[in-house]
Amino acid sequence: MNILIIGSGGREHALAYCLEKSETCEKVFCVPGNPGISQIAECVDIDTTQHDKLIDFCKLQKINLVVIGPEQFLADGLSDQLRASGYAVFGPSKSAAQLETSKAFAKNFMQKYKIPTAKFAIFDKSQYKEAIDYLAHQDLPIVLKADGLAGGKGVVIATSQEEAMQVTKDYLDGALGSASEKIVIEEFMQGEEASVFAICDGENFITLAPAQDHKRIGEGNTGKNTGGMGAYAPANLVNSKVLEEVKSKIIEPTLRGIKEEKMPFIGCLYVGLMIKDDEAKVVEYNVRFGDPETQAVLSIFEGDFAKLLYSAAIGNLDKNAVKSISNKAACCVILASKGYPEKFEKGNKITGNLKEDEHTFVFHSGTKMYENNLVTSGGRVLGVTGINENLSLAIADAYKRVDEIEFEGKYFRKDIGKNQK
Ligand SMILES: Nc1ncnc2c1ncn2[C@@H]1O[C@H](COP(=O)(O)OP(=O)(O)OP(=O)(O)O)[C@@H](O)[C@H]1O
Ligand SMILES: [Mg+2]
Repeated sequence: MNILIIGSGGREHALAYCLEKSETCEKVFCVPGNPGISQIAECVDIDTTQHDKLIDFCKLQKINLVVIGPEQFLADGLSDQLRASGYAVFGPSKSAAQLETSKAFAKNFMQKYKIPTAKFAIFDKSQYKEAIDYLAHQDLPIVLKADGLAGGKGVVIATSQEEAMQVTKDYLDGALGSASEKIVIEEFMQGEEASVFAICDGENFITLAPAQDHKRIGEGNTGKNTGGMGAYAPANLVNSKVLEEVKSKIIEPTLRGIKEEKMPFIGCLYVGLMIKDDEAKVVEYNVRFGDPETQAVLSIFEGDFAKLLYSAAIGNLDKNAVKSISNKAACCVILASKGYPEKFEKGNKITGNLKEDEHTFVFHSGTKMYENNLVTSGGRVLGVTGINENLSLAIADAYKRVDEIEFEGKYFRKDIGKNQK
């Protein structure tokens, strides 16, 4: 089949890598893609905000499956439009995407369907006083979340009442525009985080290897939040007992509930978990693959990924498309530009060994070609991924390769995967 991927980051490179290897895949296109993706797929420059142009392209290239990477396209209803034009799409409808695009929607949904999550309350602009009253009676720390998509910048963990009240005021005053017109105030959960991706066809699902990412910029999980500085899979924290519970108490009721709400979920349901004493609660839903977890998870996927996503997209999940539970491990270390997640330089030349070998794959996130050179073009530049029989070997493979790649201002964390219990 012919497959179109929408997006341009490391996650989309990993999707392209896994789809292209699939037996049932003939050709992969990516809009707009990046220099790494262009080595395995045909990258096409179409304005992604013009959905009708994307639909014309699908017709021209006889696309059988569209896979949507970033959440914004889902929030904008791209899957609905493609589906209405007759295309098989791996990605939820705009309404089902509310599980990610509205934290208030997600929390109300979890409450209704009795899915374990932190205790919460929701306030809108007109309820500032009630919000402050509510805060006065809560323990610290307390978690404040803007309702809408905020590019990973909408969550504050407040450690004092003053801070909590200030953030509440700022948010409801519109600090994040329409994203913070409503806020969720949430109990702080103790524990360790991990995530599970479920490939869903509207009713049935299959999970991929559990992963753990490293959100903070500094070693030992310190400093500012980022889009993710690295990830590894499988995450032992999600042992088989925890995974069974995640399936029966979280994923299964989520799919049943969202179907009952008449918005069946087709796509990748990402459940962000807080795990303590082998009990998992939902921190958040995302409605697409995570970045950089996908780079680790898909590096150890065994089977026909194209067949799996296509079968989900047409509402007939083929679990046999997954060959076996992989007994390998992968570790993805992000090479970032110095200064990220604040201001950083772009346009620095990247040199060294970026080639695929038996134990390493280098995914491109923020790179571009400039005068025949590969240069940096984003905060997160490359996802250097080691793949081996166990996690320690995969970590060693990744870091060995990290040393073989250079660019001015190269920054990375040295502890990816190393906190594994
Ligand atoms: N109730 C909670 N208790 C403890 N920590 C929390 C809680 N809610 C959120 N966090 C922390 O804040 C981070 C961001 O929260 P959340 O995942 O809801 O926001 P997001 O902006 O949607 O994130 P992402 O960009 O990963 O999609 C979580 O990964 C977690 O570390
Ligand atoms: Mg999120």
